[in-house]
Amino acid sequence: MDTALPEPSADEAAHAARLADEIRREIAATGPISFARFMERCLYTPGLGYYSAGRMKFGEHGDFVTAPELGNLFARCVARAMAPALRACGTDAAWFELGGGSGAFARDCLLELQALDALPRHYWLLEPSADLRERQRTCLREALPAVLLSRCVWLDRPPEQPWAGVLFANEVLDALPVTRFTVRDGEIFEEHVGVSGNGAFVRSDRPADPLVAGAVRHLERQLGREFADGYRSEVLPQLPWWLEAVAGEQTRGAALLFDYGYLRREFYLPGRRDGTLLCHYRHRAHADPLILPGLQDITASIDFNALAEAGIGAGFEPVLYTFQSDFLIAAGLDAVFATARANAAGEAERYALAQQVKRLTLPGEMGERFQAMLFVRQLDPDGVFTPLLAADRSARL
Ligand SMILES: C[S@@+](CC[C@H](N)C(=O)[O-])C[C@H]1O[C@@H](n2cnc3c(N)ncnc32)[C@H](O)[C@@H]1O
Repeated sequence: MDTALPEPSADEAAHAARLADEIRREIAATGPISFARFMERCLYTPGLGYYSAGRMKFGEHGDFVTAPELGNLFARCVARAMAPALRACGTDAAWFELGGGSGAFARDCLLELQALDALPRHYWLLEPSADLRERQRTCLREALPAVLLSRCVWLDRPPEQPWAGVLFANEVLDALPVTRFTVRDGEIFEEHVGVSGNGAFVRSDRPADPLVAGAVRHLERQLGREFADGYRSEVLPQLPWWLEAVAGEQTRGAALLFDYGYLRREFYLPGRRDGTLLCHYRHRAHADPLILPGLQDITASIDFNALAEAGIGAGFEPVLYTFQSDFLIAAGLDAVFATARANAAGEAERYALAQQVKRLTLPGEMGERFQAMLFVRQLDPDGVFTPLLAADRSARL
């Protein structure tokens, strides 16, 4: 194990061993499993996966911090930016949040939408982790008045009836299981995970099936060059179907997705020969996903060109692609910060607010590494998103 990582406690080690045993049994039955399947098992195995078990993941005492966990400025700005879209969608509008984490975003977004008199009729949450669903329920029950709580509904699957409103996800795409590929002698291999003689998980490459090979060849065509021998990276071949599945019944409205990532030409830079995959364990980042199963987050950056393509394929019109910092500033961060500062109880709170703004917006923090992509469907973006559109950088795509 990487010696720089903190040692897991005895309970954690036992937890990881239980999940490792389950995965080893699957591999014994089927042969090496795809890396995407391995990642899915590590993150989402019921009761044992990183997102499905009870450990604290978000925040200063977890493994990483997300924008909504820093404080309420992010959610309040997003609510302000999207309120006109909700109003344009009428009194039955819904806000549909994917992967709500601890519930902090839903709480702060609903409170801000109430203050703006732009509440949606429904606030739907789709959360695959039973543990996180429970945390979200507790968070919202403790913080929201009944009139807001009654709008919150946890869905088991995307809506199957036509609906209008806003689809929202922060840092969900980076948690989707990725396919890892390598190019060798002009042939594409998909990375699999097997078990060595001593029981450790090991990488095992197999010729890619047509879906994965097709996705990699598509990248090469778009980039206008072939990947060099030994080049290794990730791709999300399922992204178009995933987006279609979550937004297929949305008839009108907007979809707003935040995540960390790159333009395609930056994601697949010739020099980035080992992809973008990262693991997080107690605020340490490292690159070995085959250790600490169930204890660490495994994530990969987003190819924003792939997201734009998937959105168009799902019937959306892309209208904005920009840095998180520019999005928040265009959405009124200055005014939100000024009000919060004026209402702060004391110097410590004012200092924390200033720190929050820095984390959200500085280029070396979340400001530029995190980006926003906004799509519309049957909605004229002019008028609805006017201040935001000035921040658009989609010409870079
Ligand atoms: C990195 S966390 C981000 C949580 C939260 N959005 C935030 O910003 O704090 C990823 C979240 O996405 C959820 N998730 C993963 N796959 C998902 C899927 N296919 N559909 C919806 N949510 C998913 C995870 O369970 C988790 O809640």
